[in-house]
Amino acid sequence: MRNKGSTPTKPRVVTTKTVMTMKKTGEKIVMLTAYDYLVGKYLDQVGVDVILVGDSLGNVVHGYETTLPVTVDDMIYHAKAVKRAVKNALIVVDMPFMSFQTSIDDAVRNAGRIMKEVGVGAVKLEGGEYIADIVRHLVKIGIPVMGHLGLTPQAINKFGTYEVRAQNKEEADELLHDAKILAKAGVFAIVLEKIPATLAKKVTESVPVPTIGIGAGPFCDGQVLVVYDMLGLTEEFKPRFVRRYTELAEIMRNAFRAYINDVKSQHFPSDKESY
Ligand code: KIV
Repeated sequence: MRNKGSTPTKPRVVTTKTVMTMKKTGEKIVMLTAYDYLVGKYLDQVGVDVILVGDSLGNVVHGYETTLPVTVDDMIYHAKAVKRAVKNALIVVDMPFMSFQTSIDDAVRNAGRIMKEVGVGAVKLEGGEYIADIVRHLVKIGIPVMGHLGLTPQAINKFGTYEVRAQNKEEADELLHDAKILAKAGVFAIVLEKIPATLAKKVTESVPVPTIGIGAGPFCDGQVLVVYDMLGLTEEFKPRFVRRYTELAEIMRNAFRAYINDVKSQHFPSDKESY
C-alpha cells in the first residue's frame, strides 16, 4: 500500500492493472527511462512505478540525431539488461520506427519478439487513429500497449521541428479524438508529449485510461522524463519541461579530472590500493 501524496512505503509489483487503478485512486504514476542494468536497478530500488526502455536510447546512448535508426534488436538488447535488474516496476519497451507501422503482421511479430525474448509487461507505440487497428490486435492477443501522442519523435521528418504540438484548435481536437480512439482500441495508458497543459487536462479528463505527461503540464495522471535529462547528462538539451535533479555531467568530468591528476602525479594507486 502507498499513502496518497507521499513516497512509497513498501515496494510492490506494478502491472498494467496497477497503473490503470492509479488513475482511479488519484495516485500519481512515476515513470522514467532506463537503458541498462544499473539504472534499471536503482530506479526499481527507489520505487519508480514504470520503467520505459525508450527509443530515446538512439539519441542518448547511441548518439543518433533522431530515433529513426533504432532497431528492434537494439530495443531487445537494452531491455534485456534492464529486465535483469527490475523486480517490481512495470517495464514498457518502445516499438521503434517501422517495426509496427508497416502492417499488423509486422507489429505482431516485433511486439511478440519483445514480449517473448525479454519478458516485459508492455510495449509503447507512437501514433493516433491510424494505428488503432494495430493496437486493437496487439491487445486482443495479449500484448498490453501504451499509446504516445503529441510530439512523437518518430514523426520528426513530417513535422520538421520538436516544437510544442497541438497549439491550434484543429490539432488539439484531432489529438483529443486520437486519445479517445486509442483508449477504445485498448491502450492501458497514453504518453502525452509536449502539448499545452490545458489540452493535457482535457484529454486526462476525457479518457478512462491514465495519461503520462512529458512537457504536458501538471494535470496528467503521471509524469515521465528521460533519465539522462533529469540527471543532467544531456547538458545541451534544455527544454523548459526538463527539471534537472543533479548535474551528473559536471560530477563525472570532475571525477575524470581527479583521476587524470592522480595517475599523472603518481598518487594512484596507493599502497593500500595495491597487492
Ligand atoms: O523514447 C522515450 O524515451 C520516450 C519518452 C520521452 C516518453 O518515448
